[in-house]
Amino acid sequence: MHALAPLQNLGWTLRRAPDARAALRQLQSSPRLPHAVLIDLREGFDARDLEELGPALAAQNAGWIAGVASAQLDDEPARRLIRDYCYDYVTLPCPEAVLHTVIGHAYGMAALACGAGSADVLCSGGVDGMIGESEAIRALCRGLHKAASTDAPVFIAGETGTGKELAAMAVHRQSHRSRNPFIAINCGAIPHNLVQSELFGYERGAFTGAQQRKLGRIEMANGGTLFLDEIGDLPMESQASLLRFLQQGSIERLGGHEQIPVDVRIVSATHHDLDQAIADGRFRADLFHRLCVLRLQQPPLRERGGDIDLIADHALQRYAQETSRGIKGFSPCARQAMHRHPWPGNVRELINRVRQAVVMAEGRYITAADLHIDDAADGVPMTLEEARDLATREAIERALHRNRRRLGESARELGVSRVTLYRLMQRLGMRGGEEEIDDDAVRTA
Ligand SMILES: Nc1ncnc2c1ncn2[C@@H]1O[C@H](COP(=O)(O)OP(=O)(O)OP(=O)(O)O)[C@@H](O)[C@H]1O
Ligand SMILES: [Mg+2]
Repeated sequence: MHALAPLQNLGWTLRRAPDARAALRQLQSSPRLPHAVLIDLREGFDARDLEELGPALAAQNAGWIAGVASAQLDDEPARRLIRDYCYDYVTLPCPEAVLHTVIGHAYGMAALACGAGSADVLCSGGVDGMIGESEAIRALCRGLHKAASTDAPVFIAGETGTGKELAAMAVHRQSHRSRNPFIAINCGAIPHNLVQSELFGYERGAFTGAQQRKLGRIEMANGGTLFLDEIGDLPMESQASLLRFLQQGSIERLGGHEQIPVDVRIVSATHHDLDQAIADGRFRADLFHRLCVLRLQQPPLRERGGDIDLIADHALQRYAQETSRGIKGFSPCARQAMHRHPWPGNVRELINRVRQAVVMAEGRYITAADLHIDDAADGVPMTLEEARDLATREAIERALHRNRRRLGESARELGVSRVTLYRLMQRLGMRGGEEEIDDDAVRTA
């Protein structure tokens, strides 16, 4: 206790528990309050001690740190305690700054586990299950909010797994149409010959097998929102019909003769490069301009900084409830690895990795290896030139992001001319600058 006295000056309230039962009593006396527990093993720790500690170690409101003498790291019970139950360990005596830091982290993990300051930090206004606090996600939420207040078609671009469907639902829920249907159709998942009937429906007898009238998705969405997912995969024939509907505001069921007025707000999304599809003649430019009146850009996860921790913590809390394994959090190495990983599958990949780690992890804290993103696995061999390109690309992406993708400001920040930056981006195959996002990620075309 004497050695811990300086911690009191740093604002910690200290309590001493002489044995396992006393520790448990203290943890149970305030079950909703988080505690960091420093367990001093220097006077000896054996298998019986480990067993006695069991109930206290299982308490969700505690983050444990072991204080050891270095030779003790060879003792099996001490090793088991550290590996399976502790957030970290320190070799005692150690500098008070080190103690302060590890205790702070363990306390933070315990706070997460018992709900205080939990990861439920939802994007501006706490809506629609979108977790994030980064500037990128805040800008997106502002864009969503503005888009929701109009009836104009919204086009959502972004890499796979960034949350385009979630954003589409958010637009609907925040709009005046929220009490009416939100109907989604994945244009890439439906066989080409069925897309027309899925979208427009059919009358009885329209073709062999059409035994009764069936409403199409557009009609089903009447009064609400129609989400056209993977719009880039829409066959040419349906592109023409969709364009007609957008121009006329009415549809004709297959085999029908009547024009049926339908009032829907259209939200569409794709992870394909539609500009390229238009250039290749695979997507109609006139349809694109109709669909992309308001454009929202989903930021990739690697550009969302601390959101990675928030989403990972949220997924952990959610999936840990499904198991009885008592997983308490992420180890520091796991957090570092998560911040270095490029997340090609974005939020979906992060959630899936956490989910499988919760099931497969051996200890109480998920490690980088449990997530299968230890640096060794990520460290694909590369030449110096490739490493330089990677670093350059990262620096440019960060600068573009900070400067709302304005090339001039980004170039100034990076200490190069606008032309040099533009050439670098072309050489590295990076997407354009300010023409992508102007006002808070929403652009009126
Ligand atoms: N900000 C977020 N907070 C929490 N969960 C998120 C967030 N963004 C996405 N997710 C989750 O990630 C998963 C993928 O999201 P979604 O299906 O919306 O991505 P997508 O951009 O439509 O992907 P794809 O292009 O592959 O269809 C979903 O489980 C979604 O709930
Ligand atoms: Mg999707």
